[in-house]
Amino acid sequence: TVITKSDKPLTITVTGAAGQISYSLLPLLATGKLFGRSQPVNLHLLEIPPAMSALNGVVMELQDLASPLLRNIVQTSDPTVAFRDADVIILVGAFPRRKGMARRDLLSKNVPIFTGHAQIMADVASSDVHILVVGNPANTNAMILSRAAPSIPSRNITALTRLDHNRSCSLVARKCHVTTSKVEGVVMWGNHSATQYPDFTRATAGGKPAIHAMGGEETVASEVIPFIQKRGASVIEARGASSAMSAAQAIIDHLQSWLIGDDRIVSMAVPSDGSYGVKEGVWFSFPVRCLGSGEYEIVTGLEISAFAKPYIDATADELFAEREEAIAISQ
Ligand code: NAD
Ligand code: LMR
Repeated sequence: TVITKSDKPLTITVTGAAGQISYSLLPLLATGKLFGRSQPVNLHLLEIPPAMSALNGVVMELQDLASPLLRNIVQTSDPTVAFRDADVIILVGAFPRRKGMARRDLLSKNVPIFTGHAQIMADVASSDVHILVVGNPANTNAMILSRAAPSIPSRNITALTRLDHNRSCSLVARKCHVTTSKVEGVVMWGNHSATQYPDFTRATAGGKPAIHAMGGEETVASEVIPFIQKRGASVIEARGASSAMSAAQAIIDHLQSWLIGDDRIVSMAVPSDGSYGVKEGVWFSFPVRCLGSGEYEIVTGLEISAFAKPYIDATADELFAEREEAIAISQ
């Protein structure tokens, strides 16, 4: 299990290390924002050859952080070097969605990257490696990776939906005039895409139901849910580039919950076990309870209302359609 190993550095591999998410993420990893200020880390940074010069600049800046926790930095375009002995792998490297592109357009670009990396990870990473997929389409890339690396336990591969979860918590906090620490019960179901179902049914702010302050069920359906579903696209529209700072923070939050543990229920895309009628074979964002050291369980028994069911079915259907397309591309 990945637990802090005190004076022995943990090795974290980040792909797409010269990209914009990594530019926000790497300083957090180097200065102890993930495993705390007593855990040294090695950073293995993977990029494609055209980005090696930019990566070299990022490495200069990492050195200039002068972090006492940052031990060995490896910069490479060779996945075998990058994944060797990795305890944690953060797969950011991918072709990002540009203005006007649908996320599914990304499949043909990104499936080959994840298939290619999978077997190498299985061969050279730590035997208990924990892998977080960020590059889009994240849920389906995680599925493809797992199929191509069957020796890695599928539960050790998760995909990032914490950004959607955080976006939802922040919105509740803003609507209810509380800090985000007072928000509980938000669940983000399904795909990290426009079909995601941010579920406010059980959301509370300061212990009180939030749904009324959010305008009631009708406004939640007509305005609030689409607002969250389109948030990634809104940032792309406004910035001309996809979310990076908030994605980096969500990566830290996800890994902290998963690898260290969390009292709160959080949202994480994990291999479906059939819960809530979502068949096995896709990485679906569920409410999860993180028990520490990389252990988690899907929270079962939540009531799925007639309002929620069509949303959950739609995002599951999209994931199965992506699965079929991705498998066809990978063969
Ligand atoms: P970016 O283009 O700035 O960086 C991506 C980097 O990956 C580039 O430097 C590129 O050279 C590198 N890369 C491409 N192919 C690679 C390969 N085979 N091996 C190693 N590196 C490779 O993009 P970004 O803004 O940092 O976003 C990265 C990914 O994260 C995109 O797919 C984006 O859509 C996704 N994303 C996901 C979430 C989420 O919540 N899951 C949120 C935001 C962005
Ligand atoms: C996001 O949610 O910000 C990213 O996944 C960007 C996107 O393509 O939607």
